[in-house]
Amino acid sequence: MSDDKNQPETAQSSIKTRAQYETYPYPARNPEDEDKRLISGSPGNWEEVVHFVFGGRDPSAQTKSGKIKILVAGGGTGDALVMLAQQARDRKAKADIVYIDLSESSRAIAEARIKRRNLEKNVTFVTGSFVDLAKDYGPFDYIDCCGVLHHLPDPNEGLRALADSLKPNGGMGLMVYGELGRQGVYHMQEMMERLNAEAGGARRLNFGKALFNSLPGTNWLKRNPFVGDHIHGGDAGFYDLLLHQQDRAYRVDEVFDFVDQAGLRLQSFIEPMRYDPTTYCSRHDVLEKAVHVPFRERAALAELMAGNITKHTFYVVKAKNKTKPPVPSEDAIPYFTRVDGAALSRSVAKTGNIKITFTGLSVTRTMPTASPAILSRIDGKRSVREIYELFQPKPEKFEFNAQFAVMYSVLNAANLMYLRLPNKK
Ligand SMILES: C[S@@+](CC[C@H](N)C(=O)[O-])C[C@H]1O[C@@H](n2cnc3c(N)ncnc32)[C@H](O)[C@@H]1O
Repeated sequence: MSDDKNQPETAQSSIKTRAQYETYPYPARNPEDEDKRLISGSPGNWEEVVHFVFGGRDPSAQTKSGKIKILVAGGGTGDALVMLAQQARDRKAKADIVYIDLSESSRAIAEARIKRRNLEKNVTFVTGSFVDLAKDYGPFDYIDCCGVLHHLPDPNEGLRALADSLKPNGGMGLMVYGELGRQGVYHMQEMMERLNAEAGGARRLNFGKALFNSLPGTNWLKRNPFVGDHIHGGDAGFYDLLLHQQDRAYRVDEVFDFVDQAGLRLQSFIEPMRYDPTTYCSRHDVLEKAVHVPFRERAALAELMAGNITKHTFYVVKAKNKTKPPVPSEDAIPYFTRVDGAALSRSVAKTGNIKITFTGLSVTRTMPTASPAILSRIDGKRSVREIYELFQPKPEKFEFNAQFAVMYSVLNAANLMYLRLPNKK
């Protein structure tokens, strides 16, 4: 057996990370719960991927085989894997999915969840580091890597390894921690370090809990309402949030640099609205300076204004890939995600606006007057033109298109509506 202390620092970090997830697979999941619900979220939600990575066109219709290849890198206990495999089946999309994780015990839970849903046919499970292994299983159309890169000894190298196993027209959905919203988390990690706390396992957990419980109400972590895994996520959540020994967080500028160094281009943050200064401020004298600047600058400013961004979820493509998310056009087919369209239509008809809440902040947006009528005609199959044709009497086309565009920009920025484009002939 090797002595960890003789290993180089990076190898030691990986050993600690692996040991943590062997003992505390994260997030804690019970395979039997697959009978009751499907966990879905960002990144990796199928519609989001089609919209932000593939420009609104079904990716399986764009490959010769009609099949797409997906990698879930650092798949943990299987949330993204199960979501993607189930969503592919529900949409009759042909997808081969590769799951890679360091931790055997996490893999066992992910495998049991996949089996419970009879989805194992198109899934390959691999134990090891995706930094070494991704290229052996690629190239991929889509890579999902959520909450993993910030735990690598060298995240830049990790992202480059993923970029190298991506097809030229493929893309990735990524999540890394956000520094500002995690105020207090790194204070806790530093205290553990200064106190020379236990190296790992249950002793580290117990010591960490004792320390946390002894902190005064003035401590930043105790005062931070935006992180809650240490309270609601069980032992695995407490450990993952506060006791990790290989963990870093990013500011918006660092996310851009991270993406750049891997030869990638950022398509969009999720939710786009959170990275827009106009979400937080309505003063013209401030916005005059805040909006006529490049996207990176606007996003960095928005992060500082908001203060509640605990993680950055975003989609990237290769720098040379020209694909952009679709914009409203007569052929585009709008559809809802994460929201019941009929209920939204009724609520907008009643109030004239929409209230969106993210991580403790509620934002209200006034909606164009035709919104309820448009919303009630959206069924995920009709194009913008067909929706217009349903109006009797027909409004002025220019006016209809303008109202649709404003309504869509609000809902899309809140991640509630996307556009699908017909496949190219
Ligand atoms: C915080 S968990 C996230 C799990 C999952 N992506 C999710 O969002 O639910 C981090 C996972 O990354 C895995 N991991 C860390 N470094 C890895 C590497 N180099 N290769 C493969 N897996 C890795 C860990 O074993 C752990 O299961």
